[in-house]
Amino acid sequence: MVQQQEIKRAWYKEMAVYQVWPRSFKDGNGDGIGDLKGVLEKLDYIKSLGVDAIWFSPLYVSPQKDYGYDIADYRNIQPEYGTLDDFRAVLEGAHARGMRVIMDLVVNHTSDQHQWFLESKKGDDNPYHDYYFWRKGKGKRRPNNWMSTFAGPAWEYDEGLDEYYLHLFAVEQPDLNMDNPKVREEVKDIMRYWLDMGVDGFREDVITFISKKEGLPSSPYYFPVGTGIENYMHGPHLDEYLMEFKNDVLSHYDCMTVGEAPMMTTKKALHHIAEGPDQQLNMMFHFEHMSADCMFFSWLHTKFSLKKLKKVYTRWQKDLYGKAWNALYIENHDQPRIVNRYGSVQYRKESAKLLATMYICQSGTPFIYQGQEIGMLNLALDSIDDYVDVSTLNNYQVAKKLLGEKKAMELVHYASRDNARTPVQWSAEKNAGFTTAENAWFHVNPNYTEINVEEAEKDPDSILNYYRRLLKFRKEHDVVIYGAYEEYNADSDKLYVYGRFLGDTKLLVVNNFSDDNVSFTAPQDFDLASGKLALSNYEKCGTLGNGFALRPWETRVYLWEA
Ligand code: NOJ
Repeated sequence: MVQQQEIKRAWYKEMAVYQVWPRSFKDGNGDGIGDLKGVLEKLDYIKSLGVDAIWFSPLYVSPQKDYGYDIADYRNIQPEYGTLDDFRAVLEGAHARGMRVIMDLVVNHTSDQHQWFLESKKGDDNPYHDYYFWRKGKGKRRPNNWMSTFAGPAWEYDEGLDEYYLHLFAVEQPDLNMDNPKVREEVKDIMRYWLDMGVDGFREDVITFISKKEGLPSSPYYFPVGTGIENYMHGPHLDEYLMEFKNDVLSHYDCMTVGEAPMMTTKKALHHIAEGPDQQLNMMFHFEHMSADCMFFSWLHTKFSLKKLKKVYTRWQKDLYGKAWNALYIENHDQPRIVNRYGSVQYRKESAKLLATMYICQSGTPFIYQGQEIGMLNLALDSIDDYVDVSTLNNYQVAKKLLGEKKAMELVHYASRDNARTPVQWSAEKNAGFTTAENAWFHVNPNYTEINVEEAEKDPDSILNYYRRLLKFRKEHDVVIYGAYEEYNADSDKLYVYGRFLGDTKLLVVNNFSDDNVSFTAPQDFDLASGKLALSNYEKCGTLGNGFALRPWETRVYLWEA
């Protein structure tokens, strides 16, 4: 028998979330750029998926050097996206449809065009100087050897001041000095501003990077990307600052938080998200499951390993069970499209449905990224000049130096964040129905004539309609949300099989991650004849004895209800 525990119910555990990356979601005013008017038009569509919340990637005023993750004004909307009134209309429209709204809170860094930074550059005695990490160089050398997460040094020299400032991301994204209590007060004010307006929570951008080790010591290690990360990926005052945000602000609202947490392990995560008085965040976006085809990040590409993926999932499911809550995702604006990575382009429909089932039937809050629900794919542009994402352009340069141009371009096609940032494909009309402008701001994937929402709406067996069934099934069955998890066939490099258990109700989720037919026998305690086939991505799902032969990329979910 699988051990079960009582899990405390909460709305943030039961919801499913749709992520909107606004620039590419829907253009409502015909200028080629996605905007809030476009979102407003599509609220019914989002609701129709069966989600309960929308997470908006940054909508704030920004020079767009990192497409919104470089914020110049935390209290206003990027004019290209609309106005505060447009935002209020979206907020109201979402709430009226029973959906919550989650904002991106990006406070590890600002834009170099933020007023604070412009002030901080004016001199050592400026009250904003200490909002950032300004340091003198060591002779002709930078203050330390840290490298930016986007490649290149993490320090930029300012001639006027004869000092360097720290930027863990792009040059235009100076890091905020969270050790300065005034900066923390600013962060809390920003939180209150949006919560008072009615938003329901925050996705907190690289929140585990906000505390840097005192003295900012150089690293004994060298990588072209992220050297020095051990000094801030889980810094000395992180707990303190997260607790302060919670006690002073978040606990006074009915809101949720999900923190983005690169290099996170379950042990460290529990420290921040285990339920109880010391809990700092509701959940975390870790990255371990996004490394089944790479070493740490998609540019260090390796062959996909199902065993690696399963190990990570099972660890997170087991280690958090009864203690903390998982955030589940397989795509977002930083990750190439999942069908190209863990699925099969040849079996696009089957594998997209399988991947959806595989992660949404686990315990946790599922996040679905725009376009994922219709199985959008990566695109391969001919020239590096066609790409716009800063990390793509920087990583390409590093890869070209190390591996040559051809390999570097292959990596761009595989790993670029731009893969996930092409306009959402709404129809087979020009520009995929994304905009009425002559051109969309970025390349539309040429496959839009076949892969688009309008087409998917017509087909009851589309990926889109499968997502709807899956989310409905999750909502109607507590076992999917609160059940205990147990993995089977762990040694298989083709099958991912797990069960979920709640009281006397149980589920069996069987996935064939391969182009082959694979035979499967149900584990003891699962009598297929007495179970109900609740979800599947093929027709004619017979059984043979207490098992069946799985077809390529077949997924099946069996349910036994008490
Ligand atoms: C993580 C965000 O998801 C990513 O898009 C951004 O570039 C970095 N943090 C820096 O803000």
